[in-house]
Amino acid sequence: MKPTGSPRKTAFIRSYGCQMNVYDSERMADLLTSEGYEIIDAPGDADLVILNTCHIREKAAEKVYSELGRLRIGKAHAQTEGRNPLIAVAGCVAQAEGEEMIRRAPAVDLVFGPQVYHRLPQLLVRASAGEKVVETEFPTEEKFDALPNDRRSVTSARAASAFLTIQEGCDKFCTFCVVPYTRGAEFSRSPEEIVDEAGRLVAAGVSEITLLGQNVNAYHGVDGAGRGHDLPDLLDTLADIDGLARLRYTTSHPRDMTQKLIAAHRDNDKLMPYLHLPIQSGADRILDAMNRKHTASEYLTILADLRAARPDIAISSDFIVGFPGETEAEFEATLRIVESVGYAQAYSFKYSPRPGTPAADSDAQVPEPVKAERLAWLQDLLERQQFAFNRNTENVVLPVLLDRVGRMDGQLAGRTPYLQAIQVDAPMALLGTIQQVRVEKAGPHSLFGVLAGGAVPVNTETRITLLEGMTS
Ligand code: SAH
Ligand code: SF4
Ligand code: F3S
Repeated sequence: MKPTGSPRKTAFIRSYGCQMNVYDSERMADLLTSEGYEIIDAPGDADLVILNTCHIREKAAEKVYSELGRLRIGKAHAQTEGRNPLIAVAGCVAQAEGEEMIRRAPAVDLVFGPQVYHRLPQLLVRASAGEKVVETEFPTEEKFDALPNDRRSVTSARAASAFLTIQEGCDKFCTFCVVPYTRGAEFSRSPEEIVDEAGRLVAAGVSEITLLGQNVNAYHGVDGAGRGHDLPDLLDTLADIDGLARLRYTTSHPRDMTQKLIAAHRDNDKLMPYLHLPIQSGADRILDAMNRKHTASEYLTILADLRAARPDIAISSDFIVGFPGETEAEFEATLRIVESVGYAQAYSFKYSPRPGTPAADSDAQVPEPVKAERLAWLQDLLERQQFAFNRNTENVVLPVLLDRVGRMDGQLAGRTPYLQAIQVDAPMALLGTIQQVRVEKAGPHSLFGVLAGGAVPVNTETRITLLEGMTS
């Protein structure tokens, strides 16, 4: 327990959902730190608990309510000790449910959506005065402009790899998805702002940056001179930052996969050979009902072009099984597309009807046991593909960014260019560096390797074409 009378307030933030929430939580931590809060690792003693929530599937949203149940008990206990910790719900559930959250979970003091994080200090003042605060509008000012720039990850320099949100919101309105409602309309940050933030990250020791957006390849930032920049332009500008070794971006939509962006995978030396490009389903009728606006064969053409540009590129995807009306034959079309692509990694989900989205109203909902069976089939196939991809890298020497402490003493963990997780026998002194590593053993989910051949200076980790021609 914190000593009574301690002047320093404490805050705990838990993130659910996508990487954009992780990024937003970091920015909220920066803001709270600049407001005098200390960020702590457990909710128990915190004066402020923020749950940064996800609404994408029912399960994700339900998790929040069970956590709130636990927090309510902790709060009641704290109140017997004369403390009054605040419970705040941020993120996409907050945006979607607003006041309803406080009705359902009365211990909650503060509900605020993803576009108002910069207003947190004022919201906290109101909540501390006893008001139940709900703030879910989409303000006209831009939250990133108003958030402090001293990123905690920068000041503490604890991470070699960092996320950077460049684009928010979505205008695509896929019929299953809540994102356009929870995050609002598509918006791109200015290239200057992004380059500035990236520069500060690199100066603090970050050597890999993953650019984030719900629709990151629809990025279209405008600079101070009024000139437009698309994602390949931005990647080129960022690649000029001395000391930055690796660039990645996620998540992309097939419709925005331009020839120029595909060419960047050939020409931009810092762009890693990995692309998360969700197809969701392999059946054209389902893709149409999902409002994805492309066919399965158009998707395959994009992948063929990508592989022509960068033969060793590793491909990943998201899949939804049991979308309303999906027949057995349509599900099999998904299995066939998976077989023809050969994924290095993938995420797959049972369709979850989301309130307010068109597909939720369909009366052709697929029964739960059918969804479960299809998911098991698909995951079995995807798992075998991932294992095959990993085995293909056995005995290969790959540059690994050692960005974390490993599972066991004497090990560090990191990522290969193909985003494979790898445990490496390596001393702590190498944390944060890129080393040549020989892959000794591949498992379905991660690799094990040993140091082989020394450090890779950050500006020379270019053109790794060791796995030329590898497709599965
Ligand atoms: N912008 C990305 C996806 C963001 S959501 C894109 O367009 O691909 C991440 C993933 O969650 C989606 O790709 C989809 O596979 C899954 N998802 C979204 N809504 C869902 C729902 N209602 N039920 C099940 N899965 C869903
Ligand atoms: Fe959701 Fe579709 Fe937008 Fe992706 S593109 S965030 S799935 S609406
Ligand atoms: Fe979830 Fe919102 Fe991200 S719904 S996936 S946290 S954009």
